[in-house]
Amino acid sequence: MKTIEDLQVAGQRVFVRADLNVPLSGGEITDDGRIRAVAPTIAKLVQAGAKVVVASHLGRPKGEPDPQFSLAPVAVRLGEILGAPVAFATDTVGESAKATVAALADGEVTLLENLRFNAGETAKDDAERGAFADELAALADVYVGDGFGAVHRKHASVYDLPARLPHAVGDLIATEVGVLKRLTDEVARPYVVVLGGSKVSDKVGVIDNLLGKADRILIGGGMAFTFLAAQGHEVGTSLLQKDQIPTVLEYLERAKANGVEFVIPVDAVVSGGFPDLKTKAPVEDRRVVDADKIPADTLGLDIGPKSGELFASKIADAGTVFWNGPMGVFEHPAFADGTKAVAGALLDSDAFTVVGGGDSAAAVRILGFDETEFGHISTGGGASLEYLEGKTLPGLAALEG
Ligand code: 3PG
Repeated sequence: MKTIEDLQVAGQRVFVRADLNVPLSGGEITDDGRIRAVAPTIAKLVQAGAKVVVASHLGRPKGEPDPQFSLAPVAVRLGEILGAPVAFATDTVGESAKATVAALADGEVTLLENLRFNAGETAKDDAERGAFADELAALADVYVGDGFGAVHRKHASVYDLPARLPHAVGDLIATEVGVLKRLTDEVARPYVVVLGGSKVSDKVGVIDNLLGKADRILIGGGMAFTFLAAQGHEVGTSLLQKDQIPTVLEYLERAKANGVEFVIPVDAVVSGGFPDLKTKAPVEDRRVVDADKIPADTLGLDIGPKSGELFASKIADAGTVFWNGPMGVFEHPAFADGTKAVAGALLDSDAFTVVGGGDSAAAVRILGFDETEFGHISTGGGASLEYLEGKTLPGLAALEG
C-alpha cells in the first residue's frame, strides 16, 4: 500500500476519509477519541501544503439529511484540536461542498456534512454507489483512506472512491493494521481475549476464529447471559439470545477439544430494571448474586466482584490481551465496576494490550483511565473484529494496488 509520503499533496485537494463517528449527547461530543486519532494525519497534510477535504459518516441516518446526525459539532472540535478553524460544508456534494472546497487555500481544512445524508454512500447497488463516488471524486485530486472504523463497510467513500483517484493509506490505518497483525501473526502467549457487549450474534465470527488461536476467552457483558443460559442457569430478565444457545454450546465443546479455556462470570450485579442513564439516579435494589442464582424478576447489568477478580487472575500472566466490549452498563456508576476491573487488570499486566471497539475505548476514557497506558486503543469496533475474523475488509482491499 502507498503511504501519504508516496503522494504529491502540496497544492492538491486531498480527500481524507476519516471515521469521525463519535458519541453525541444533546449535540455535545462525549468522547472525542476518534477525532484526536485522525488529527495527526490531517495536520501532516496541512503541513505539506494540501487543501484538505475531510469526510466521514456519523450514526446511521437514512440516506437523507437528519440534523441529529450532523457533523457540525465535530468540525468545531476538529478545529480546536488542529489549532485552526475547519470550514464546514453543510452538504456532501452540493453547492456548499463545492464552494467550500473551491475556497480552500493551501494548508486549509474543510469537513463535509455526514456522508450518509446521501443514499449513494451506503447503497447496495454498485451503480448508485459509483454515481455518488463520482461526485465525491470531483471534489478532490487525491485520496487518503484513514477511517479505520469504517473499513469493513463497502460504502462509496470507503470502497468506490479510492478506485477513482490516486490513493494512499493514512497513518492511523497503517498503525491499526500493524497492531492487528501482531495479534494474528506473531502473538505473544498466553493470548487472552476478553469479549463483552450486548450480543453474542455480533461476536460469533470472531469467537469462531479465535477458538483456533486464543489460549483463554473471557466472556462478560450482556452476552454472558446467553452463555449462562446455555449452561442451564436461570438468567431472569437479562438479555438473552435463545437462538444463539446451540452455537454457544458448540463453542464450549470446541474450546474443550482445542484446549482453549472459556471463562464465564461466576456472579452478577442485578436489579429489577434498567437504570436511568440520563439522571444516573442511585439504584436502590442493586445487588450481587451468584451467577447460578439470578432471581427470575431481575436482570444482570454487570459482572460481579468475584468475576472481576477471576478475570483479572486470567489476565495477570498474559503475553497479549485483546479486549472488545464493556462488561456491564458502565455508563451508570452502579454497573461500572466490572469494566473497571478488566481495564485495571490490563494496566496491571505486562502484556501487549489492545482495546478494540468504540464502546470499550470510550469506556476506558470515560471511566478515567489513562489511555496512553494501554498498548493500543483501536478506533475500530466492527472493523477490528472483522479483521481478527480473517475477513477481507473492503476499505483495505481498495487501498491495495
Ligand atoms: C463504528 O462505530 O464502528 C464505525 O463508525 C462504523 O459505523 P457503522 O457500524 O454504523 O457502519
